[in-house]
Amino acid sequence: MQSIEVKTERPYKVKIGRELIPRIGELSAEIHSPCTVLIISDKNTAGFYMKEVLESFERSKFSILQYLFEPGENSKNMKELTNLLDFMAQNAMGRSDMIAALGGGVTGDLAGFAAAIFQRGIAYIQIPTTILAAVDSSVGGKTAVNLPAGKNLAGAFWQPELVVCDCHTFRTLAREELSAGAAECVKYAMLRSPELLFSLTESGLNSDWEDIIGQCVSYKAQIVSRDEYEQGLRMILNFGHTIGHAVERLSGYRIRHGEGIAVGMSIITRAAEKKGICESGTSQKLEAALKAFNLPTSSCYSAEQLADAALYDKKRRGDKITLVLPIKVGNCLSKDIYIQDLGEWIELGMGDRLCR
Ligand code: GLY
Repeated sequence: MQSIEVKTERPYKVKIGRELIPRIGELSAEIHSPCTVLIISDKNTAGFYMKEVLESFERSKFSILQYLFEPGENSKNMKELTNLLDFMAQNAMGRSDMIAALGGGVTGDLAGFAAAIFQRGIAYIQIPTTILAAVDSSVGGKTAVNLPAGKNLAGAFWQPELVVCDCHTFRTLAREELSAGAAECVKYAMLRSPELLFSLTESGLNSDWEDIIGQCVSYKAQIVSRDEYEQGLRMILNFGHTIGHAVERLSGYRIRHGEGIAVGMSIITRAAEKKGICESGTSQKLEAALKAFNLPTSSCYSAEQLADAALYDKKRRGDKITLVLPIKVGNCLSKDIYIQDLGEWIELGMGDRLCR
């Protein structure tokens, strides 16, 4: 089992390994005395793992509550959040109790935000069961729900007390779900490691996920430890996300987060290359890696539609927006551009318009 420390104000560990779900109670008891634990999960994920998680917590003397919701990004909203908070209040949860988020990014973001605001903040642990949640959303304490105007517009920074990633859970993921998670791994490769990009391109869905998740989480932990509240350095982790979130929103969240950021990374890399900021051939390498996972490199939306939707992104500051631009594979930088210039950047990197 790998154990990676995230050195935030309240430090915590990310445990990565196999067969960790049956040990979830024991691992939780090491950091939190037995209390009421509310296990939050979507109905699909619960079908696979709820029984094992529940029994494990019971063996370690925790009392259990469960809250299930419909799977999918469309559940990550204020209505579901309110229902969840009401459920917690009606079941007399208190400040010494705990939430366990069992599932992918939607579950982690929703459960984490409920933990952040219920009685001004209670403990929670993340049990990611998708690659996307394992490498990104379960680590770093970004919690949120979507508003009709855009993705993750209401949220808080609230760090978990523990993250337990059991790579055995990936065996139940559909191919599209694995691929969507791989998009975040490709992002980390573009930020720091040509070797990782090469390995992902060569191995595709046969990659050694335990090793790759360890590499990605180690890097994310370093960044978050130095810039917990995204004042500067951490913005680099948003590579591909401004346009990616626009793609997701325009599709009514039919397009997955990973697919959206695959498009976002591709557009911005092509644009950076055309502007002479980025080493020539970088977009070709990026696209080869994305294609190894059957991920899209363009969308059916126009540059104007994407620019309009991207302006609702919370990374906007006054009349500027921060873009993360690649210089070459393994090296990216953040750059503030004027909002009125975003359309031109997108137009430059558009590629073929393709509806999948
Ligand atoms: N997903 C980017 C971050 O956690 O900062």
